[in-house]
Amino acid sequence: MATDNRENLAKTAEEVIRLIEVARKQAKIYPPHHPSVKDIVLKLVQVMEELLAPRSVVSFNIAQKELFLDEIPLPDASLTHNEFVELCVSKTISSLTFRTGLTSDEMTALVELLNDPPPEDGAEGDSSFRKKLAEKGVEHIEVGVLVSSADLVGGRGPSDGSAAEQEARNTRDEALEIVWHTCQDLLAGRTLDYGNVEMTVKGMVRGLLADRSVYKGLAAVKDYHNYTFNHMVNVAILSLLVGTELGLSTDQLDALGVAALLHDVGKLDIPVDLLSKPGKLTDDEWGTMRQHPVEGARVLLEQCGYENIGVTVALEHHARYDLSGYPTIAPNRPLHLFSRIVGVCDVYDALTSDRSYRRGIMPDKAAAIIMSGSSKDFDPALAKLFIQSAEVYPLDCVVVLTNGEPAVVHEQNPGDPVRPKVRLTRSGDEILDLRETDIGISKCIGTAAGTTNSQE
Ligand SMILES: [Fe+2]
Ligand SMILES: [Fe+2]
Repeated sequence: MATDNRENLAKTAEEVIRLIEVARKQAKIYPPHHPSVKDIVLKLVQVMEELLAPRSVVSFNIAQKELFLDEIPLPDASLTHNEFVELCVSKTISSLTFRTGLTSDEMTALVELLNDPPPEDGAEGDSSFRKKLAEKGVEHIEVGVLVSSADLVGGRGPSDGSAAEQEARNTRDEALEIVWHTCQDLLAGRTLDYGNVEMTVKGMVRGLLADRSVYKGLAAVKDYHNYTFNHMVNVAILSLLVGTELGLSTDQLDALGVAALLHDVGKLDIPVDLLSKPGKLTDDEWGTMRQHPVEGARVLLEQCGYENIGVTVALEHHARYDLSGYPTIAPNRPLHLFSRIVGVCDVYDALTSDRSYRRGIMPDKAAAIIMSGSSKDFDPALAKLFIQSAEVYPLDCVVVLTNGEPAVVHEQNPGDPVRPKVRLTRSGDEILDLRETDIGISKCIGTAAGTTNSQE
């Protein structure tokens, strides 16, 4: 039944893409109020409403030239599908999110903007796409755009993307792809390619040991709105940052990285509607969700054998430090160190990530939640270490201050991760130490790793 549902959703989503492409072509020939455009747009809104009826928010996500409806891959079966993906890639669009309440005027505005020529190299960057949508009064469509830190801070970012940064980003992309393929293998009943997963993690560990700083901002990257895969990779990066801070050996880091990368494989069989359901879950639904640690452990046990630490981490990552979580764990032994590390990183990434039904919260608020759960939900020493090692606001993170001024995180203040030194980009790059003022950070709008965090 879940498969049927996915197939139906995929079909409706493909129809939306087809209609967008038809409307776009008509709008190149006729003015927006012409019936040839209007009728298609009305149909488009109607089909979108079908998609929105059960969930209120849907996202079309583009990752590695693949198109997804939320987390459901859409097969590239048609020419229009490929044209749409190419168009998004050329305009650096990583997602289009639609919300209930969408009007035909808003859809017309989107179609017109999609027809605007892509930015030339060195031009303002297509982050202007969002500005233009806002100027046209569009409230029910959001565009996720891959932007560079230079776009965000007017080309004055201190980081112009060193070779180490580029390599770290490539490794992250590779990890995303490996996780995606691993999940597809498992869903299709094939054997997990453990060697490939291990090799990717080893690359990550070597890169991180060589230059830890470039990985610090990487887990803040939320470029693909494909939550599950992003989440697994982010949790792996965050866990490795904590692991290196703890002084784990390279072999231990490799094992921790693989376990963190696969910690949620037990979610693969959970219907996507349930994973992204807004509001309270029914008892039955909650029961299904609570099964994923046991299911993940079962899958990894079957695929990798009982001695693989990933089995333990998958089983224990929601058990909580005081064992008040799920599943019930025998109280005669503490949770494995790796489960305690992944447990902290898992919650932090989940809190700070956008979902189809809510926005992610700001890193400083997530950090406060982690600290308030210290000793109960989280190992107190690890919670503290996590906040220090993950960096709440990574270097080069583009932020808006509580006085409305944009700034870039310039330097961390040891022991005070929520009040770093920032560079004021509007007033001649003046450095402001947030410890010495009442001004704080109101929101983070991007990272130098090259993406926005969809907090606008
Ligand atoms: Fe989980
Ligand atoms: Fe998780």
